[in-house]
Amino acid sequence: MSNPSTWWRNAVIYQIYPRSFADSSGDGYGDLPGIIDRLPYLTQLGVDAVWLSPFYLSPMADAGYDVADYRVVDPLFGETADAHELISRAHDLGLRIIIDLVPNHTSDEHEWFRAAVAAGPGSSEREMYLFRDGQGEHGELPPNNWSSVFGNSAWTRLHHADGAPEQWYLHLFDVKQPDLNWNDERVRAAFDDVLRHWLDAGVDGFRVDVAHGLAKKPGLPDQKEVTELLGTNMGPMWDQDGVHEIYRRWHGVLTEYDGDRALVAEAWVPDLDRLALYVRPDEMQQAFNFAFLNAPWDAATYRTVIRDSIAANDAVGAPTTWVLSNHDVMRHASRLGRADTGNRNSAGPEDPQPDHELGLRRARAATLMMLALPGSAYIYQGEELGLPEHTTMPHEFRQDPIWERSDHEQVGRDGCRVPMPWTADAPALGFSPTGRTWLPQPESYRLLAVDQQIDVPGSTWSLYRDALALRKSYALGDGSLEWVNDLGDDVVGFTTGDVTVLSNVSGVPVALPDGEILISSTPVDAELPTDATVWLRRS
Ligand code: NOJ
Repeated sequence: MSNPSTWWRNAVIYQIYPRSFADSSGDGYGDLPGIIDRLPYLTQLGVDAVWLSPFYLSPMADAGYDVADYRVVDPLFGETADAHELISRAHDLGLRIIIDLVPNHTSDEHEWFRAAVAAGPGSSEREMYLFRDGQGEHGELPPNNWSSVFGNSAWTRLHHADGAPEQWYLHLFDVKQPDLNWNDERVRAAFDDVLRHWLDAGVDGFRVDVAHGLAKKPGLPDQKEVTELLGTNMGPMWDQDGVHEIYRRWHGVLTEYDGDRALVAEAWVPDLDRLALYVRPDEMQQAFNFAFLNAPWDAATYRTVIRDSIAANDAVGAPTTWVLSNHDVMRHASRLGRADTGNRNSAGPEDPQPDHELGLRRARAATLMMLALPGSAYIYQGEELGLPEHTTMPHEFRQDPIWERSDHEQVGRDGCRVPMPWTADAPALGFSPTGRTWLPQPESYRLLAVDQQIDVPGSTWSLYRDALALRKSYALGDGSLEWVNDLGDDVVGFTTGDVTVLSNVSGVPVALPDGEILISSTPVDAELPTDATVWLRRS
């Protein structure tokens, strides 16, 4: 059993999406030197750790989640030495570093896949992936009916140089992301080495991409329903029991190292008890709590999700995590301002537009609820500025493969990946010295830039900074929660340690109980307005 005081039990972890954080080279893409320059910003904000989305060598068919070499930094992001410098500079500042591990699939440009294609059907190289003959008289039909999470079939057929068709390969995501065969011991051994490589480099942990997808149901039987984008409907490719022996093995690798290294599961598993299996004492340390992120703006749902998440994690001795935004979902400052607050898929210019004012007000309230909860919390870059989703981005700029693979039915995730605004009055809002940006920034980002908010009383940035400081001083991450029910069903209320937290989701103001106000998401007096959260010091 891990030491109960380990850092990841209560850490606030800031997600950096490297291509959109800070561009030092001027090419319009964020890079590792840009991140290194901005590390003091993160300590000023008061987070404990950073999770970096992938920065490895990649043809960028899925923004780097298609890895061609797990040990090498892509030139877009700098040099491999920059990753090592980033780790050591972060540590100097007291920040932990978690990096992204992408084990479900590689890029089709990875040497393993190239070798498998070249070696041909029946070869041992092909055993590292999921190649199958097609169905039908001439193998012209895919081996089963599985659909890609990004839209259309999950199978693509290979062709010989002369154009003659041959086998199919599985890709649960883009055609350029072939799935690995985790029954193959070479795959397992290779990833042990990747883990050790970065552990030797000093990383404090790994966020494990698609952690619920590595083991497929034997025989690859047809699925009954289509898998929606990072959705919650399960099928023969998700959450198979076989994943757990992989994580037990990785747990063993991590314990060869000192310093409480951690594994974080990105597992879209709706059943919280099933999800808790990933964080048993001999597996991973954390799993993202997507039930919390998926919750609509509704008090009863929040209460249920919070209660059930804590219970499921307590049952296995793991900390609960909390998250509201990341690089795959509509930013919560917009999501909570749309008619369907539980819909995390983004919107485009033709769709109904969120109410940005309402969204930001609720986002601040939701964040203040989240940061008081016991366990570990994740913040996605830019949410501390209250950034909205870019919902009016012209389609010509779209880069997410979802846009094409869904036949333009879904706009995809570019709207939450827009480069950060640092300085209102600078080219590219201070993101890049040349003014270039790989995605356009909406005009609304100017007034939300870091220099407009930092240390400004009442700004969203100051709210985050103050909440993080209070969270630390009242040790809320280690707290335990007791419900406060006397303000009615539409107020989410709980006490944790010396603090009472009240989130008013009711639509009308409620009278505020006695207590010193420590922080609030909007100004409060005798009443707690609707769509607001307050922390009171218990008298
Ligand atoms: C989840 C990642 O967060 C997402 O961005 C990516 O597209 C898929 N996994 C595939 O790697």
